[in-house]
Amino acid sequence: MKSNLLLILAAGIVGLSACTNNSNKTTTSKTDSDSVSNTVMIPDSSNFIATVNGKQTGLYVLKNKNNVQVAITNYGGRIVSILVPDKDGKIVDIALGYDKVAGYEQEGEPYFGALIGRYGNRIGKATFTLEGKTYHLPANDHGQSLHGGPKGFHAQVWDAKKVNDYTLELSRVSVDGEEGYPGNLAVKVVYTLTDDNAIKMDYTATTDKATVVNLTNHCYFNLNGEGNGDINDHILTINASKFTPVDSTLIPTGEIKAVAGTPFDFTKPTAIGDRVNADDEQLKMGKGYDHNWVLNDGSTNLKQAAKVVGPKTGITLEVLTTEPGIQFYGGNFLDGKLKDCKGGKPYQHRTGFCLETQHFPDSPNKPNFPSTTLKPGQTYKTTTLYKIGVQ
Ligand code: BGC
Repeated sequence: MKSNLLLILAAGIVGLSACTNNSNKTTTSKTDSDSVSNTVMIPDSSNFIATVNGKQTGLYVLKNKNNVQVAITNYGGRIVSILVPDKDGKIVDIALGYDKVAGYEQEGEPYFGALIGRYGNRIGKATFTLEGKTYHLPANDHGQSLHGGPKGFHAQVWDAKKVNDYTLELSRVSVDGEEGYPGNLAVKVVYTLTDDNAIKMDYTATTDKATVVNLTNHCYFNLNGEGNGDINDHILTINASKFTPVDSTLIPTGEIKAVAGTPFDFTKPTAIGDRVNADDEQLKMGKGYDHNWVLNDGSTNLKQAAKVVGPKTGITLEVLTTEPGIQFYGGNFLDGKLKDCKGGKPYQHRTGFCLETQHFPDSPNKPNFPSTTLKPGQTYKTTTLYKIGVQ
């Protein structure tokens, strides 16, 4: 296969090991306005060594036999870099982020690469009722709760165990009452970089009291390379003929609406930018795409949810999941103002996208949506893959 060949060609260009401070340069070449920048490095791991809330942070690098590399920090369980060869065998970093752990600690950082929990996406009015008891969460998004609250899982230091060159196990206990949620929740997320170039994320959790759980990853991708322009030219397919429309606070109305005939129809490969500025009420609500799609296969089987192609590099991303929904967020709130992004690049409007596999937003308040309740004795178990290729 062409993709395998290119990956093999790229082998040997890069060399690096986990949590070390040396030989972190991969490959360097010229940049010009017509071609994709090819100066690519995993950030210096010494920039990730810190003590945050009394716990040690670091940078862990997974590597497979094709020399694809994925750097992850245990601060927020964040994917920091994804180094892959493009159609010409040049190494490209397709993940937005920071060079230093301190970048990720800045107020207003937009969850770059993060593990999101206890409840990914929004809970309306930052309130829900479970088994007769009402819980109030810290409201961090115009009166709503977003991504588990200000000190959600993205802002916590996870215990890290590097199992082998291609597996990192992250775990933590989110204590009863953390960010307003009931029950001690023991969470484990295993990142595995497979030899067919997938980043596999296996999430498990158990609780000692009824609670709600919705875990996801918030990696921002730019398949033309982070910092290399906007993502409007990326070709997106989502295997969903329905989505969940939202109100002006981005909370689902509860309706499940057909995408046919709307700018939300990505059932056939379509450029993200083709209709993003269309005169459409839902696009206005989200300031672009910032919605949950209802996957055609709502079962817990692992299935393809979405596929994206970066036309300049030929790099492809397939998202496979056991979840029933996926949030496609088109980077509408990136505005070039974030500080200290990788290589000092300003991340301008829509220069990255997220595909957040999940249960639907505000499910705890929407009885018609699949349940996100986890009870003692049950095990929360989901899997998502980001599978990278080239065409
Ligand atoms: C949300 C956006 C939000 C972004 C934060 C996305 O998952 O849907 O509304 O602004 O996360 O970076």
